[in-house]
Amino acid sequence: MVAATLTVENHLPADFIARTLRQDVATGLTADPKWLPPRWFYDDRGSELFDEITRLPEYYPTRAERQILTARAAEIAEVSAATALVELGAGACEKTHLLLDALRAAGSLRTYVPVDVSDGALRTASANLLWDYPGLAVHAVVADFDRHLGLLPVDGHRMVALLGGTIGNLDPARFLADVRATLRPGETLLLGTDLVKSPDVLVPAYDDAQGVTAEFNRNVLNVLNAELGADFETGAFDHVARWDAEHERIEMRLRAQHAMRVRIAEVDLTVDLRRGEEIRTEISAKFRRERVVALLDAAGFGLTRWWTDDDGLFGLSLATAR
Ligand code: SAH
Ligand code: AVI
Repeated sequence: MVAATLTVENHLPADFIARTLRQDVATGLTADPKWLPPRWFYDDRGSELFDEITRLPEYYPTRAERQILTARAAEIAEVSAATALVELGAGACEKTHLLLDALRAAGSLRTYVPVDVSDGALRTASANLLWDYPGLAVHAVVADFDRHLGLLPVDGHRMVALLGGTIGNLDPARFLADVRATLRPGETLLLGTDLVKSPDVLVPAYDDAQGVTAEFNRNVLNVLNAELGADFETGAFDHVARWDAEHERIEMRLRAQHAMRVRIAEVDLTVDLRRGEEIRTEISAKFRRERVVALLDAAGFGLTRWWTDDDGLFGLSLATAR
């Protein structure tokens, strides 16, 4: 049996957290309204909490996408004919098994490149894969996919996967254009998009009864306390998940229970919050098929396949670079 190999490449500069988090905090917490980019949720604890979220009864996206992948992985493998799978924001690589199994069965797969900003989660998930896929070259890349797409490996006939609806947390037009710029014509993108639906389903998915999403949301303040010597009183913030019908997106916010002054030592910043003032911590945009097709087209991709789960909750597109 040929053993699988694992290499881990780290594209984050040693001072990435210090420099980039400081910039983000200095920009977002002095803006009106205040905001923070969602990548800072995912320290080790945040990655664990996201994993718990994916198993909550209210959080349907993971189950819906898994159902599509289970039904369609063989077709994805055949149509993409990928020899390299590059997965952006791979996290626990949990649904990836379905793709890796199908690509292996099709006989083409040589390399798997999981990319994530969360170093610990990425190392654990990639090491676990080695047992299951003898002969596979796992080339894990610790990187910020907002900045480092140009540094990803170029070997093989690639399929880039962005699953879970993560595109909803990003600027989709810019991100898709950046992904397209890294690909050659004929290479593919596998894109998971959460779909517009009733707020009766959407809001509980982001405000679960057990309070796991609330803890995930507040965890970003723990990250600021730990990394920047901030003194946020984490328990003094309420978790807010709101459906913005005009923009068809969920917004997660943290609402101050009382007026407070927060000192963020390493940015030399003092932030005053009014009672009830909110910090926006995440946008999770929801999509319709027409918008996905238009965004893909504008970025230089043609839609090759479109699938949804049986309940029409979640969409998965296979698109080909023109
Ligand atoms: N694809 C998985 C995980 C989704 S959670 C799934 O479908 O379940 C989002 C993942 O993206 C997390 O693992 C997080 O660490 C990663 N992530 C968030 N922002 C990122 C960024 N800017 N660069 C790289 N990875 C990022
Ligand atoms: C990673 N991303 C697609 C999740 C989402 O649904 O937007 C993050 C998340 N936020 C709250 N729950 C899950």
